[in-house]
Amino acid sequence: MNRYLLFLAVVVVGCLGFFGLQGRVSKDTPVQVFDDMDLQARYRPQGENRFFADGRDARPPVAGTVARGDDLAPEKVFSADYRRAESLNPSFVTGKDAKGAHLAAFPSKSLEVLPGGALAPFKVDAALLETGRQKYGVYCAVCHGAAGDGNGIMKARSAVEGDVAIATIANLHTPLFRGYPHGQIYDVITNGKNTMQGYGDKLSPAERWAVVAYLRALQLSQACPPGAAPASVKSQTK
Ligand code: HEC
Repeated sequence: MNRYLLFLAVVVVGCLGFFGLQGRVSKDTPVQVFDDMDLQARYRPQGENRFFADGRDARPPVAGTVARGDDLAPEKVFSADYRRAESLNPSFVTGKDAKGAHLAAFPSKSLEVLPGGALAPFKVDAALLETGRQKYGVYCAVCHGAAGDGNGIMKARSAVEGDVAIATIANLHTPLFRGYPHGQIYDVITNGKNTMQGYGDKLSPAERWAVVAYLRALQLSQACPPGAAPASVKSQTK
């Protein structure tokens, strides 16, 4: 019996000792029975490293490495006449004019800086609509549907899964959204709206304008004023 009590006491004290101090703040070096990979050899930012001749942890990029993706090529950014196109044409990026009102028309200038320093014009043409069609298909159609009526695959799935949040996906052909200025659609794409996330991190400003243009074409396709249809189409519908 005594041996049993002794054993029990050892177990109780052991358990208290092991678990009882968990969660307390201590500045002492912890006793680590299993270190769970806490302690590993690693490089630190700005760290010293005697393996390399220059003693640095952080390795310079391999000679000839080309920065890509963000258009911030060093020789361009650090040239004397460099201006961020965004600061030359802020409404192209925000979709709003200087007073903060949404742009009613497409911006007339793009973000492309011409050799003389002026901005290239922004053209709403077939190529832009094609970009918009592609990007709409990738980023919007899953929810808003290929036709923009809000019946994308997500809506269909939400009916099966019973996900009510997704059921709020907007039909983009309502008079309200047809009446939105271009800049307001651009704003929704950039920043999202209520339960819709923004796509500003996935689509460049020019691509967002392309989606706006394509969405306008979709809206027109579902509510085309009689006078706007070309004569060839009108004759077919007779
Ligand atoms: C994951 C689903 C999803 C995707 C993808 C999505 N949307 Fe939406 N969108 C929504 C939902 C949900 C709403 C309704 C938000 C709300 O509750 O007001 C909405 C609303 C909108 C509105 C109306 C906003 C308003 O002012 O009420 C516009 C315009 C719109 N989306 C355009 C787009 C465009 C363009 C894309 C592609 C770049 C896109 N959406 C991608 C889910 C999505």
